[in-house]
Amino acid sequence: MPPHAWTVHNPTGSRRVIVTKELPGSRWLHILTAADCRVEVCTSDTALTVDEIAGQIGDSCDGVIGQLTEDWSAELFAILAAAGAKAYSNYAVGYNNVDVNGATAVGIPVGNTPGVLTETTAEMAVALTFSAGRRICEADRFMRDGKYHGWLPSLFMGKRFHGETVGIVGAGRIGAAYGRMMVEGHKMNLVYFDLYPNEALEQYVSAYSAFIQARGEEPVTCRRIATIEELLALSDIVSLHTVLDDSTHHLINAERLAAMKPDAILINSSRGPIIDEAALVAHCRTHPQFTAGLDVFEDEPAMKPGLADLENVVIVPHIASASKWTREGMATLAAANVAAILQGYPLWSGDDVLPFLSGDVPQAAPSIVNAVELELHEKGT
Ligand code: DGY
Repeated sequence: MPPHAWTVHNPTGSRRVIVTKELPGSRWLHILTAADCRVEVCTSDTALTVDEIAGQIGDSCDGVIGQLTEDWSAELFAILAAAGAKAYSNYAVGYNNVDVNGATAVGIPVGNTPGVLTETTAEMAVALTFSAGRRICEADRFMRDGKYHGWLPSLFMGKRFHGETVGIVGAGRIGAAYGRMMVEGHKMNLVYFDLYPNEALEQYVSAYSAFIQARGEEPVTCRRIATIEELLALSDIVSLHTVLDDSTHHLINAERLAAMKPDAILINSSRGPIIDEAALVAHCRTHPQFTAGLDVFEDEPAMKPGLADLENVVIVPHIASASKWTREGMATLAAANVAAILQGYPLWSGDDVLPFLSGDVPQAAPSIVNAVELELHEKGT
């Protein structure tokens, strides 16, 4: 494989920052160069290996913006710290690819990019829901293959969403946004499974229900469900929005797929390994009325054997956050994280990211996931 290509911006900058893939927009680069950074950007599309990243870090580096496709292990953070680095940001809201404890152990703050993906990702989950439930991709292929010979009463019959039950697993920012879209857009009843109650979501649905009832429409409900089994059995649509960790790996397995309605829709725009993908392939083969919409895959970019042959599965290449606004916003937040840390500004926790997206950048790192742990680490507690 030929060596990866790199572009250097602001070569005389006094702080050396490595960016392991080209990022969209230009605000992120202005933020870094305004912080006197020399910015080295890998312009190849193929993912860098750990050895290639370590090689690029060399013996002097101040910070890195890395990708969810890279394994940021404790060993890599030790290499980064030995090169003098003080900052790392993932170009993603999810950070299951990052050993945060390993970073904390060597005193490196880890940034992520929350708040700018919420609606865009939820919108893609909605798009996948409709594509799967109304068989859009299958019908599109049918048209392109010249198989449409005239209107038929039962051609590509799919599901009606209005008034049905939608279940979300993980009612954080993105899950709740998806839930609201399905409730408001399609008057669905919402059930959710989460370790914590989402009172704001429950109140929102209750107020919305009162609003539509006052106009003579049927009420809608929102309920937190105690077990995942109960949620799966109740839901016509299940959308996964939980983080990936040991407790959610293969959360949806053969047994739980069997507990779902035979014509349910399963959507995953979080992380691939939350579904046992081989079990999903087997389930979709034996349940042709069951449909799935997947943005993420267990062994990304590979798919489990048989998945691509299934007509009842819609598959897209991890693009749920791929709107221009969101991807540029993610770049801005990742750069602001790194630039702020290198300038010694305070570390924020991602609750207020909008001021970073236009105008003057606040003197703070917008979202650092181990800010509290770093403080304890520095105090030696
Ligand atoms: C994330 O940010 O975690 C998404 O998976 C990619 O945008």
